[in-house]
Amino acid sequence: MVESCFLGIDVGTSGVKAILIDAAGDVVAAAVTPLLMATPHPGWAEQDPEAWWQASVASIRTVLAAKPRAVVAAIGISGQMHSSVFLDAHGEVIRPALLWCDGRTTAECREITERVGGESRMRDLASNPALEGFTLPKVLWLRNREPDAFARLATVLLPKDYIRYRLTRTLATEPSDASATLMYDTAHLRWSEEILLAVGLPRSLVPDVGGSADVLGHVTLEAATVTGLTMGTPVVGGGADNACGAAGVGAITAGEAVTSWGTSGTVLAATHEPRVDPTVRAHTFCHVVPGTWYLMGVVLSAGGAFAWYRDQLARDLVGSGEANERLNAEAATISPGADGVTFLPYLQGERTPHRDASARGAFVGLSLAHSRAHLTRAVVEGVCFALRDSVAILQELGMSPKQMLLTGGGAKSAFVRRLQSEVFGLPVCTVNREEGPAYGAALLAAVGAGAFPDLAAAVDATLSRSALETPDAAAHEAYEEPYLRFKASYHAAHASPDSMG
Ligand code: XUL
Repeated sequence: MVESCFLGIDVGTSGVKAILIDAAGDVVAAAVTPLLMATPHPGWAEQDPEAWWQASVASIRTVLAAKPRAVVAAIGISGQMHSSVFLDAHGEVIRPALLWCDGRTTAECREITERVGGESRMRDLASNPALEGFTLPKVLWLRNREPDAFARLATVLLPKDYIRYRLTRTLATEPSDASATLMYDTAHLRWSEEILLAVGLPRSLVPDVGGSADVLGHVTLEAATVTGLTMGTPVVGGGADNACGAAGVGAITAGEAVTSWGTSGTVLAATHEPRVDPTVRAHTFCHVVPGTWYLMGVVLSAGGAFAWYRDQLARDLVGSGEANERLNAEAATISPGADGVTFLPYLQGERTPHRDASARGAFVGLSLAHSRAHLTRAVVEGVCFALRDSVAILQELGMSPKQMLLTGGGAKSAFVRRLQSEVFGLPVCTVNREEGPAYGAALLAAVGAGAFPDLAAAVDATLSRSALETPDAAAHEAYEEPYLRFKASYHAAHASPDSMG
């Protein structure tokens, strides 16, 4: 029997995931193809867009092989935000992409702020300040540091838009990713001619913007041959991974908040107007639902910090297939506060709340009495504390979430769920789908194919929530001193001025 399905693809930092969902929203096939990230200097981060494409092809082929009778009615793509794909006039990639967690563009951020007329002007035009991870500073870095490459530059794309380009040969984006480039007027939903003019870049550099659930291209014969997809399959706008991740757990209306652990960690609260943090510690971007925005705090190394710790300091467990579970079990034997050990997860600098690309990671408070289990506990707590900084900003802005949806790596382990709930002092819950951004992208594809009238209907039909896990007051209280210790340790580690290449 022929089965009508929707394909969701997520171009992450650690891998490309593809899933097929059926008309009821059940995941009928899933595949992840891992990716490596290059750090040519401390604070830098690059990937080759060709590697994203090859990983996308592999993941697509795997899910299609698992469901040979599936007919893919539409495709949705989500991906890392901000990362810069530099294309020449023939659509060829000019150099590796600078990623969302790349901190090399501090000088360019200053240049942008000055050219635009100061930080408050930048905030008025883009709803955000110039930060190293965003796309525009990367374009200026190319102009300043690699002029020959810049001379060839015709188009700047986001990662998921590059995969759409390879699938359909259409250059396009949609508001959730456009609003995270710093070249978009997030409040008025158009490219900011004023910012582009101020920095001396042409409007032709960025593609046209369509809707996240609108069909923006169709699979070409060439891409069909390589992937096994059917030529002509529609590809919708899709969205930024954080927006699709929120959609994938149903956080699409004001009042909903979600914490996600991927390589980065984010705390996102949906809004029905473009609300801006007056001191721009949190970002303001467009959601994948029309008329909806979100405020978001970003921890640059969350799952990324845990993976670094595991791979560097728990090598004996790597390869066992259950390294994360065993590390979490070790950490659970230690009491809250890790007996005085504090971990700063700022391995790649930090965005929220510090806006400091030169911040670095650290273990503080070690003694001979401490074991690896203490370090592990400190790592997980450190990520939770960094996320709590973002929860605190939402609370300060009067957007106190009543509960927190959890998604990504931090939602899977009962230990980490509980830690988040106790550190935030909030009830937490999960949903019946664990695919995160790929699930949100698949729902957008389903809407684009006409299976649902809109995303809200798709969410209603496919998602259900677990019971709330509520922290007790004493458990939250136990993290007060360790959290203050974490905040006080921020100044412990910074990059030396010339270590960023
Ligand atoms: C958000 C951000 C990260 C990436 C991860 O601003 O930079 O969460 O989207 O892929």
